[in-house]
Amino acid sequence: MTSKILVLKGDGIGPEIVNEALKVLGSVKDKFALDIEWQEALIGGSAYDALGTPLPGETMELAQAADAILLGAVGGPKWSGVDGSLRPEKGLLGLRSELDLFANFRPAILYPQLAQASSLKPELVSNLDILIVRELTGGIYFGQPRGIRTLDSGEREGFNTYVYSESEISRIAHIAFQAAQKRNKRLCSVDKANVLEVTVLWREVVSEIAKQYPDVELSHMYVDNAAMQLVRAPKQFDVLLTGNMFGDILSDVAAMLTGSIGMLPSASLNSENRGMYEPIHGTAPDIAGQGIANPLATILSVAMMFRYTFARPEVAEAIEQAVQKVLNEGLRTADIATASDTRVSTTEMGDAVVAALA
Ligand code: IPM
Ligand code: MG
Repeated sequence: MTSKILVLKGDGIGPEIVNEALKVLGSVKDKFALDIEWQEALIGGSAYDALGTPLPGETMELAQAADAILLGAVGGPKWSGVDGSLRPEKGLLGLRSELDLFANFRPAILYPQLAQASSLKPELVSNLDILIVRELTGGIYFGQPRGIRTLDSGEREGFNTYVYSESEISRIAHIAFQAAQKRNKRLCSVDKANVLEVTVLWREVVSEIAKQYPDVELSHMYVDNAAMQLVRAPKQFDVLLTGNMFGDILSDVAAMLTGSIGMLPSASLNSENRGMYEPIHGTAPDIAGQGIANPLATILSVAMMFRYTFARPEVAEAIEQAVQKVLNEGLRTADIATASDTRVSTTEMGDAVVAALA
């Protein structure tokens, strides 16, 4: 049966980088004679502009019917004045939640060719390979009640709810332990159990589940310390398990360790490995439309799609090797270029990956 991919380009640099990823998708489709097809729909600010909502019903229906989703990025200053419930980000969060994509994988791998682009000294990041497993459909991002209310005094107050049920914690913990089993068997669970009850429970549940994975060494770390350790000695980590908000923050930190946020792909999976694949970076409105954005995180997200949803690791590896090859050849978009590098455009980078695949 033909596998269906829904393509959501989104806003800002989203369309530019997804176009390059689609070239790569077309190229592996031919090379491996894959039975796949894709279709585009609107999400985020561009959906809001066209249809008045960041997550149109048609997009949701196509997403439900798709085997996998490839997404660029959503959001931007253009929509900063839009009512909270209609902001572009709500489109992305709605998809994650409706499709129950609770397991977010964010690998932070340093390509040796990019060691110079890291914000840390090369010896601290050489061979860096961390996996952040982020809970994606719960926590403070989704907790109720939430809002902005006016108190009797006339002063306004904003409020959100940080809540995790035992089952939400346990299902992401299992995913993280299993991921650690396939790697270096070390799992660090991130919390703020010295202050927040919700993460006291998080720590308890994760510790309990650890008994089912005696081969994995579990540690716990407060999020502030984890942020510090990531920039002090990142190689101490193998798999990091985080809630939704801590994972959002720490994955941006981890991204910079690898040279550029423009390099990091992600997979967001439900319990059946149906998934959404997107770069972890945003819409970069400051460079949108200039043709200089780095498409590699999106291209590497396509690789993750073949590894996780389509269970075709050889396709994933072919894409990853093609990326290695263009980096070896010295091709660099502006974000990963040092002063002596020649800079290539978004499309030149995409074309080079396609050429490397051939
Ligand atoms: C991410 C992004 C999103 C998030 C935004 C765009 C809602 O920052 O995927 O890391 O906060 O999860
Ligand atoms: Mg983020």
